[in-house]
Amino acid sequence: MRIRMFEPRDAEDWARIFHSAVHRVGARDYTPEQCAAWSPAPAPLEGVLAHTQDGRQIWVAADADDVAQGFIELESDGHIDCFYLAPDLAGTGIGAALYERLETQARAAGLASLYVEASEAARRFFLRQGFTDRGRRDFERRGVMIHNYAMTKQL
Ligand SMILES: CC(C)(COP(=O)(O)OP(=O)(O)OC[C@H]1O[C@@H](n2cnc3c(N)ncnc32)[C@H](O)[C@@H]1OP(=O)(O)O)[C@@H](O)C(=O)NCCC(=O)NCCS
Repeated sequence: MRIRMFEPRDAEDWARIFHSAVHRVGARDYTPEQCAAWSPAPAPLEGVLAHTQDGRQIWVAADADDVAQGFIELESDGHIDCFYLAPDLAGTGIGAALYERLETQARAAGLASLYVEASEAARRFFLRQGFTDRGRRDFERRGVMIHNYAMTKQL
């Protein structure tokens, strides 16, 4: 895997990775109803392009054919937004490599801290990266109750 910046040609892979990660990795911790509310279908390309081109930085892990198989997003205020791996890559260390790139860039940019609303799997990941759990957030998405965790890390 090679880590590089997201390009607009990755938009379809972004949508595929997000949807499959929710339904095959997220499913370890969330019910089928919660996963369906989290990602009912792969996001439409126009929406992905608007989301990914709003000024955020996105690193992707690309395979030997240069096809994106995972990504992580950093917003300018230190918010880590989407972080998703194709199911075959989950648990292989690629997520940590993506995160390391993000943290290096955040430090270089002079950010004092990072924050994220983490799923159950991401919570376990971010605890290992030195984040502090600031508490569970229960909320409704598409009519279904779901939860994540507010987490922060001082840099
Ligand atoms: C969150 C995510 C990017 C973390 O990356 P990762 O490299 O898999 O991280 P880790 O190897 O530290 O694994 C974190 C947790 O993911 C889960 N996980 C890892 N590989 C998995 C797999 N192949 N199948 C199911 N769950 C898996 C495990 O529960 C693991 O926790 P554990 O080690 O305590 O059992 C990735 O697991 C993922 O894409 N998850 C689904 C989408 C998601 O929750 N995104 C975060 C939104 S905030």
